Amino acid sequence: MKMYYDLGSQIDMEGLEKLHFKICLGIAKSKKFISTRLIPHYEMSNQFREAVDFKNSEAYRIGKVAEDNNSLLTDEESEEYNKLSYNEKRYVMELYCKGYCDGYFVPITFTKSKPELKFATFYEDQCTPSVNIQHFPELMEWISNKTPFIHIGRVMFFNTTHYLHSDMHYDRRDDWNDGRHHFIWFNPFKMKKFFLVDGYEKIYIDSKAIFFDMGFIHGADPTPFSTYSLRIDGQLSEEFCNANDILWKKR
Ligand SMILES: [Fe+2]
Repeated sequence: MKMYYDLGSQIDMEGLEKLHFKICLGIAKSKKFISTRLIPHYEMSNQFREAVDFKNSEAYRIGKVAEDNNSLLTDEESEEYNKLSYNEKRYVMELYCKGYCDGYFVPITFTKSKPELKFATFYEDQCTPSVNIQHFPELMEWISNKTPFIHIGRVMFFNTTHYLHSDMHYDRRDDWNDGRHHFIWFNPFKMKKFFLVDGYEKIYIDSKAIFFDMGFIHGADPTPFSTYSLRIDGQLSEEFCNANDILWKKR
């Protein structure tokens, strides 16, 4: 697959952007999940090469590194820590374990607690509506009527706090690109200064909607205002894939 597919002109971005105020209201009313991480914060000290090297190293795995905090706590502390909610744990990581938070995410639909599939986020039967879905009726209508998905799995907003780098990461390096798993990452108003990393070069994405190879490190530069982007996982239609040179295979 290509590094990314520019789908900005193929998508009704105007329809999505018209929902901006409703989306802001919806996010304000939603249950949010803080994205605190414990990995070295090279981005914030502008150590780009060190950041790339680290993210490419064996030590780095998305999620695992963030979760691997018990080693920093005594047994007694761990016992208390394990009783906390997701967000409470993140606050402890941020304050007590010297972590950092680049924002939060807002799930609209999310994987069931024990997904059976490795690529669960791409399958509707592995996902379930979040309590937040009630705040986004217009968005859900737009997704069903105006996007080229034939299957919709996880739908989620990624919010980044003003003046902070979005944590650079890659999502997977497994062989997920078999024509059955697609997603679109939407960047209304080009709010995020999003990039993919090729070697040590940032490839900035000047598009409001892309499908990209998650195996490339990706992130976003700081902006002077807080931002959201929207990612929908699922499967795109065969017709849409053919028109955009994207691999498609029947599930
Ligand atoms: Fe990602």
